[in-house]
Amino acid sequence: MNAIEIKNLNFSYPDGAHILKSVNLTIRKNEKVAIIGPNGSGKTTLLLCIGGILKSKCEVFKIFNEEIKENTDFRRKIGILLQNSYNQVLCQTVIDDIMELPKNLGFSEELIKEKFDEVVKFFDLENLKYKHPYDLSEGERRKVCLAGILISDPDILLLDDPISSLDVETRQKLVDFLKKIKKTIIFITYDPEVALKISDRLILLYSGKIVADGKPKDILFNFNLLKFYKLWI
Ligand SMILES: Nc1ncnc2c1ncn2[C@@H]1O[C@H](COP(=O)(O)OP(=O)(O)O)[C@@H](O)[C@H]1O
Ligand SMILES: [Mg+2]
Repeated sequence: MNAIEIKNLNFSYPDGAHILKSVNLTIRKNEKVAIIGPNGSGKTTLLLCIGGILKSKCEVFKIFNEEIKENTDFRRKIGILLQNSYNQVLCQTVIDDIMELPKNLGFSEELIKEKFDEVVKFFDLENLKYKHPYDLSEGERRKVCLAGILISDPDILLLDDPISSLDVETRQKLVDFLKKIKKTIIFITYDPEVALKISDRLILLYSGKIVADGKPKDILFNFNLLKFYKLWI
């Protein structure tokens, strides 16, 4: 089964700049795809289009084989980690912030409590529970955002540079976790090692177009290709 099927996706910001140009992308269920590309190549924009946060124009847009229309509620199937953690937090305390999504999705109180304890332990957030998310370090806030996504166990994870700002231990734990779980994951990274560890497929985006799509090691060890697309000096 395909988790995501997109044909001829185009996106322009309101200022008119045509950012994503005829992107075609089919991702199988449980496939783990890394997106790399230089700054400004459209990685974040593509992730936001796939997640439905930005409205793109496409010929086909299917999630788990279902055609997505204007009012289709597919967001509950998708967890999105935004590039900027300040844009992700919604509540006044860490505890409320993490519980917000499963509450909105109608999870039972017991399930929320059980899942909450799990993610708080995983990300070591016990001592931060009552703090305002704005009063955390960037890395701590990203852990809160990740906990807030993983608590509701979405089928598809869209992660914009999930390891950035994390300390070595948390980073390792997260990489191991993402490698192990059976989920469809699309993640953006600037770290080739992380891409190699987690993904089974890699996409190189350049100037809003997919210019390479294949096995991570085939692309990441093709230094001429990386040089050509400004990812190697
Ligand atoms: N809100 C916006 N309005 C206009 N242009 C934007 C906006 N956000 C991003 N862009 C432009 O879109 C291009 C792609 O940005 P982005 O997807 O954030 O790139 P990446 O994540 O690959 O670094 C860049 O040229 C950027 O300047
Ligand atoms: Mg980005």
